[in-house]
Amino acid sequence: MTILKDKVAFISGGAEGIGRAVVERFIREGAKVAVLDLNQEKLAQLQARYPDDICSVCGDVTNYSDNHKVVELAVERFGKLDIFVGNAALFDFFAPLSRIAPEKLEASFNKLFQVNVLGYMNGVKAAMDQLKQNHGSIVLTVSNSGFYPGGGGVLYVTSKHAVVGLIKQLAYELAPEIRVNGVSPGATDTEMKSVEGISSKARPLNHIPDFNENAANAVPLKKIASPEDHTALYVLLAANEQSPMTTGTVIHSDGGWIAR
Ligand SMILES: NC(=O)c1ccc[n+]([C@@H]2O[C@H](COP(=O)([O-])OP(=O)(O)OC[C@H]3O[C@@H](n4cnc5c(N)ncnc54)[C@H](O)[C@@H]3O)[C@@H](O)[C@H]2O)c1
Repeated sequence: MTILKDKVAFISGGAEGIGRAVVERFIREGAKVAVLDLNQEKLAQLQARYPDDICSVCGDVTNYSDNHKVVELAVERFGKLDIFVGNAALFDFFAPLSRIAPEKLEASFNKLFQVNVLGYMNGVKAAMDQLKQNHGSIVLTVSNSGFYPGGGGVLYVTSKHAVVGLIKQLAYELAPEIRVNGVSPGATDTEMKSVEGISSKARPLNHIPDFNENAANAVPLKKIASPEDHTALYVLLAANEQSPMTTGTVIHSDGGWIAR
């Protein structure tokens, strides 16, 4: 498996969950990976497991300079950058607008949109020059919530719809040198966290009682995804040889929300 041989990728939110599965898949496909994540402990574990294939920055996607540091480090350590995968995001614990306290709305909105939307823009902005030079590829993690209501609350669903717009606009702005696409997972067995203070019941996604069973029953394929289930699509979209004519599009990996 060497589809990404000699490629260098920057992956945000790569210490856990779907991002981590993408990091490991890219390494198996021959890539070197630079990871940006807040979770120092999980980053250290990743670094210890793949000492020759990974470099990392413990930082925040909402901070442009942390994104810039990752690009600098990738170039210093591996010589270039070919791929950006924007993936770090926060959930809103399904909170409808009616249940968000008025005094919490603005802060919750700002935090969630900064991570889920500005975080991706920061990564693209920091990586852009390198990607242009190398005719690179961008893959952003969307969600079934980028297309349908009810899989999240009002903040998460609108932020993921914004990511779909971001993919289309960036595909337009960055062509012809850089292709920009998305992968849209459905419910996936991860500990995805919610923005602080949004709900007193909030907990990591797969700690919700019966989450896996309910998520499986909500889709035609009757299965909750594992993080690994999505990773081949990231490889496909990241590799110019595999999807040379594809830009501005999103591939669904959600068990069939469209067929419900
Ligand atoms: N789990 C699901 O059911 C599901 C479904 C659809 C889409 N997604 C999307 O998949 C992506 C990954 O989510 P996941 O389920 O793997 O979640 P996760 O919480 O397991 O992983 C997210 C990673 O991002 C990191 N992170 C969070 N905020 C950050 C910040 N400000 N700066 C740097 N790193 C930060 C976390 O430390 C963590 O390592 C997200 O874009 C999410 O919206 C998840």
